[in-house]
Amino acid sequence: MLIRTENLTKSYDLGAVEVRALRGVTLGIEEGEYVAIMGPSGSGKSTLMHIIGCLDTPSTGRYVLNGAEVSELKGRALARVRNKEIGFVFQNFNLLPRVDLVANVSLPLVYHGGIARGARREQAVKALEAVGLTHRLKHRPNELSGGERQRASIARALVNEPSILLADEPTGNLDQKTGREIMAILDELSKEGKTVIVVTHDSNVAAHARRIVEIEDGVIAREGRA
Ligand SMILES: Nc1ncnc2c1ncn2[C@@H]1O[C@H](COP(=O)(O)OP(=O)(O)OP(=O)(O)O)[C@@H](O)[C@H]1O
Ligand SMILES: [Mg+2]
Repeated sequence: MLIRTENLTKSYDLGAVEVRALRGVTLGIEEGEYVAIMGPSGSGKSTLMHIIGCLDTPSTGRYVLNGAEVSELKGRALARVRNKEIGFVFQNFNLLPRVDLVANVSLPLVYHGGIARGARREQAVKALEAVGLTHRLKHRPNELSGGERQRASIARALVNEPSILLADEPTGNLDQKTGREIMAILDELSKEGKTVIVVTHDSNVAAHARRIVEIEDGVIAREGRA
C-alpha cells in the first residue's frame, strides 16, 4: 500500500467554535491507482488532499506513506517527503506572477537543493514540453490562458518526477474542451504508472479514474469503481 490513512481527523479551533473538517478518514491507495475524490463543497476534500500531499498535518490519526509514518513529521522533515514523493496541482494554480514559466516550474528544484541552475532550467523546459507549453517558456502567468496556467502548474508538479500526483479541481475553472485536454495529460501520467488522485465536482472528470471515493461531512460516505 502506497498511501494509508487511519482514522485521520483535522479540526480547526476558531475560538468559540471548532470546525471538524475531517472526522475519521481511513483510506488506502495502491501504487499506480487512479482515484477521484468527490463530495459537496466544504466536505473536507481539500483538507484531505493537503494532508496526503504533506502540505498539512492531521489533528489525530495516522498517515503512512510508502511505509513511513508521516503524521508525526513537521516543518522541514515534512517538506523533504513532499519534495521527493509528491506533485501537487492547486486549484488556483499558485504560480508566481513576476517570473516566467521556466522560473516557476524550476522552483521545486530550488527547494530540492543540490541541482545546478542550468540543470534546473533544463528539467523545467522538459516538464513544460511534456504539457505542450514549449512555445510559452518566457511568458509570465498573466500572459497565459487559464488552460495554459493549469498546464504550467501540472509541469511544476511534475518537475521533481514525483511518484504521486495530486490535483485539486484541476478542471474547475476551465471550459469543457480545455478540461478534457488537462484530463488527457492526467490519463497519460496514470498510464505511465504514476499514482494519480484528483478532486472533482464533475462526474465526467471522475469517470477518468478507476475508483471514486465520496466524502461527506468529513468522512468517507461511499466508495466504488468508476
Ligand atoms: N484554515 C481553516 N480554518 C478554519 N476552517 C477551515 C480551514 N480550512 C478549511 N476549513 C473548513 O473545513 C471544512 C472543509 O474544508 P475543505 O476546504 O476541505 O472543503 P472542500 O471539500 O475542499 O470544499 P470545496 O469543494 O468547496 O473546495 C470547511 O467547512 C472549511 O470551512
Ligand atoms: Mg476544496
